[in-house]
Amino acid sequence: MTELLFLTDSYKKEISTRVTNAEQKGSAWELTLAETVFYPQGGGQPSDRGTIKGAKGTASVKHVRMDGAEVVHECTVEGTLVPGDRVTCSLDWPLRYRHMRLHSAGHVLHEAVISLYPDLVPLKGEHGDKPAITYRGSIPIGSIHDIMMKANALVAADLPITSELVSLDELQKRVAVLPPRLPKNKPLRIITIGDRPPTPDGGTQVAKTGEVGEITVSGITNTGDTVTVAYTINTREETEAAEEFIPVSQYIGMLLEAQANAKRVIEESTDPREILRIAVLGPKSELGKLTKRIRSIKPADRQQAGTVVNDVKASVERAIEERSLSVASRPEHPEAFDPTVPGLRPPEGHLHIVTQAIAEITEIFARIGFTRVRHPEVDWDWYAFESLNMPKNHPARDEWETFFVEHQKSKSKNQKFGQIVLTPHTSNGQVREMEKGKLPIRMINIATCYRRQSDISHTPMFHQFEGMYIDTNVSIGHLKGVFDYFVKQFFGPDRTIRLRPFHFQFTEPSFEVDINCGICLGSGKLADGAPCRLCKSGWLEMAGGGMIHPTVLKNGGIDPSRYSGFAFGWGVERAYMMKGGTKLDDIRLIYSNDIRFLEQF
Ligand code: DAH
Repeated sequence: MTELLFLTDSYKKEISTRVTNAEQKGSAWELTLAETVFYPQGGGQPSDRGTIKGAKGTASVKHVRMDGAEVVHECTVEGTLVPGDRVTCSLDWPLRYRHMRLHSAGHVLHEAVISLYPDLVPLKGEHGDKPAITYRGSIPIGSIHDIMMKANALVAADLPITSELVSLDELQKRVAVLPPRLPKNKPLRIITIGDRPPTPDGGTQVAKTGEVGEITVSGITNTGDTVTVAYTINTREETEAAEEFIPVSQYIGMLLEAQANAKRVIEESTDPREILRIAVLGPKSELGKLTKRIRSIKPADRQQAGTVVNDVKASVERAIEERSLSVASRPEHPEAFDPTVPGLRPPEGHLHIVTQAIAEITEIFARIGFTRVRHPEVDWDWYAFESLNMPKNHPARDEWETFFVEHQKSKSKNQKFGQIVLTPHTSNGQVREMEKGKLPIRMINIATCYRRQSDISHTPMFHQFEGMYIDTNVSIGHLKGVFDYFVKQFFGPDRTIRLRPFHFQFTEPSFEVDINCGICLGSGKLADGAPCRLCKSGWLEMAGGGMIHPTVLKNGGIDPSRYSGFAFGWGVERAYMMKGGTKLDDIRLIYSNDIRFLEQF
């Protein structure tokens, strides 16, 4: 039986002991020792690594497991180690210390979760690559912020974490909730955080909660009757370093400048290709150094920056190729023409961001049975306004600032249909869809819209997507459910919506739909209590919607006493910008066709 030193002292990094058994397994060895500091994988904590050194050989420990009451160290060995050898064992301490912190973070987080939701039953913890705790029960997604505040308050309080070896009797007496299985092959232990009730635990733990560092809850996933709370940790230093990130726009600016400098050097150089490459792309070059600095960009923005880095490098590579070709083909170097030089790769494009967004929106709605339809984008006044309960002189129409199209008035149509307009919203599709005469309707109409406006948050041409569901017994509940589904799919599982009463002519009741802010998740405050800079109030305004007005249903030939429905309309560009958390200084950039801007998406 191996004595488990980590149970009583998680900070013991090195010991001297004796090999009790050594067996060869293929090219690897399995060693057992009289006592060990190596933690065997278990209880959600990964195993330790490190070295075991004897007089005639050194083992490098790759993995550690419990086998009955023995701890088996799976190693590769240089030289020889045999039973009876005296050895010195040393842990890979940075790795172990991170495991300890993650493991204690799990316990601290659990205290926070349980204090808010005492009915949850813990099922398992994972404190390795993807740290998370799973419970039976469910947690509202919106509570991420509260859980994080509670957990980090425990970290800030720097409470002692103490452990005691106990008998089964004592454990049963002192622990509130017994875990489903207790280990039979090792001593039982309980740990206590501050003055909270103790919990059974056999892993390694830091001495004080402050050592854990800042805890971030990275997601709450409710599936069936269980819920998983995923988390990560940061030390204070890491958190502070993270706050000194360089903004991605500034980084891209530096890259573009480095690209221009590199091209100038290339233009003036007659060096052979390889020398030139090292000068402008090598690790010591301006671009090489900048590439390394990508680590000082927020992880969330790194992919975007990475794409630009690759493009800049590719373009510099091309410039080098072109330069070496033109140098080589000069008459004074006729012999230097190299026919094996590979061809130049033409730049590749990608779909415009709005096209990408439309495809994604279409796909999300398709999954709940909404079919994308198309309706005219140049349409009669009747469909754009009048049929939607907005007669010509209605003041509400001013908000739409519509473009009118001059046309030959055809008498027959003109009576009812009126003028021709560039559609100012996608709502013109409502009555047109009803006129198809098929029920139920589940449409998503995505189209260009036009309004007489151009400023930093408006373009005269933009896109909306209009959803409409008509059937018997459709209620506000359905509207809310569909919005909530969409928002979770498009923006992420921790986002929710709220409906705020509003007025539209064509729906009754009408709502404006807000989405909780992606930064502060609806609280309006950051972790340190400062007001959230993105939203101020916790919510961002997104869309309009409501229950279709009976008059509109009648105009589409549908009997409002038998059928009801909801409709909503959102801006595609706005939705897309909110998704990336991208705050554009000027939304007109999307349509300015500046490749440097578009390439970033
Ligand atoms: N058409 C409205 C707009 O452009 C948005 C809207 C509001 C659409 C309510 C709807 C709705 O379908 O029910 O601002």
